[in-house]
Amino acid sequence: MRAFDDLAERFGYGLVITPLFESTELFSRGVGADTEVVEKQMYTFDDKGGRAVALRPEATASVVRAYLQAGAQGVFKGAYSGPMFRYEQPQAGRRRQFHQVGVEYIGEPSADADVEVIEIGFRLLEAVGITDATVLLNSIGDPEDRVAYRDLLTDFLTERSDRLSPDARRRMVTNPLRVLDSKADAAVVAEAPVPADHLGPAAAEHIAAVRSGLDAIGIPHREEPRLVRGLDYYNRTVFEYQSASYQAAQAALGGGGRYDPLAGMLGGAETPGVGVAMGVDRIVLAMPAAEARSSLDLFVVAADTAHRATALGLVRALRTAGVSADLDLGGKSVKAQFRAADRRGASAVAVVGEEWASGRVTVKDLKSGAESSVEAREVAAWIRRR
Ligand code: HAM
Repeated sequence: MRAFDDLAERFGYGLVITPLFESTELFSRGVGADTEVVEKQMYTFDDKGGRAVALRPEATASVVRAYLQAGAQGVFKGAYSGPMFRYEQPQAGRRRQFHQVGVEYIGEPSADADVEVIEIGFRLLEAVGITDATVLLNSIGDPEDRVAYRDLLTDFLTERSDRLSPDARRRMVTNPLRVLDSKADAAVVAEAPVPADHLGPAAAEHIAAVRSGLDAIGIPHREEPRLVRGLDYYNRTVFEYQSASYQAAQAALGGGGRYDPLAGMLGGAETPGVGVAMGVDRIVLAMPAAEARSSLDLFVVAADTAHRATALGLVRALRTAGVSADLDLGGKSVKAQFRAADRRGASAVAVVGEEWASGRVTVKDLKSGAESSVEAREVAAWIRRR
């Protein structure tokens, strides 16, 4: 995804590529054995050597594993893009193979790192034309804050267990926090104590700094006290993105959070980290149609077959000059070539015809309809001037 590659580069993230499948244990330790993702949604199998492996349901655990294996040296900023696999009930925006782009900022405890990764997800949505996104934000505190909170929540749920779904009754014992985002138990959960009211001073200060950091750069955010996310490695900041242009049962266009406990969960030295992953399938569904089309700076039209080779030469020269240019290779009529230019989302057309003899072509801006004659070697400059 070009918009993502540009952002990752500008924010200083290098490419990180991790395997499509890894040991099942990595995910059960990292993502959490009692999470829906690991319990129900992993594609697991034994390889020929009898090793239990799983198609990756997400990339964060793999990136932190790779960081630890590489010697865990200081700050690492990695960006990835690729397919993830979860055995879910398929529906619009929820696929068993889906594509994520994401970044992980490892080794940095500052709230400014949280703000940075939240900004990257938000800027990506902006760049593809989703301009009304909001960040839903919460803090689930530090593991030590959660000990007392967990007891409080367990007592609250136990008292109401006759009103809970069977899943929630089981989770209440193994992982009570996850009951908070159970849609089936919304009525009970609405009254439950929330983690944000039980933060220790350090976690409270951290989320306040994240909020003011987002305010300072004008990123809209909203407290969502029951946002807990489906993966076990998080502490403190958790967040998701929503937009009015994408309203489905599965509404998050992306999500992430801080995962200081993860490196330790994988057997490595304590290392802070924070990251975000954006769901490309959902983003494409939410994008304005015009943005979703591929676009071209220029479509070159050959006025007749005699000028096809010349048109191809012009396209090659423009591509070398950094202009995105294309043409029809199938010998279509001029009218059909114009139609193709439109379908391809070209913003301008250059017609190569008789004028070529005097080194000129006719260029037409497809938005304004304005036409003019320019020197062939000036076409790239004309495109940039518009
Ligand atoms: P996640 O919330 O599980 O987080 O996934 C991130 C995004 O991937 C979701 O918001 C959604 O847009 C997309 N997604 C998830 N499942 C599906 C699916 N079945 N079909 C289509 N899209 C889907 C993570 O994966 C974390 N690793 C994010 C993170 C990075 N946390 C820290 N660093």
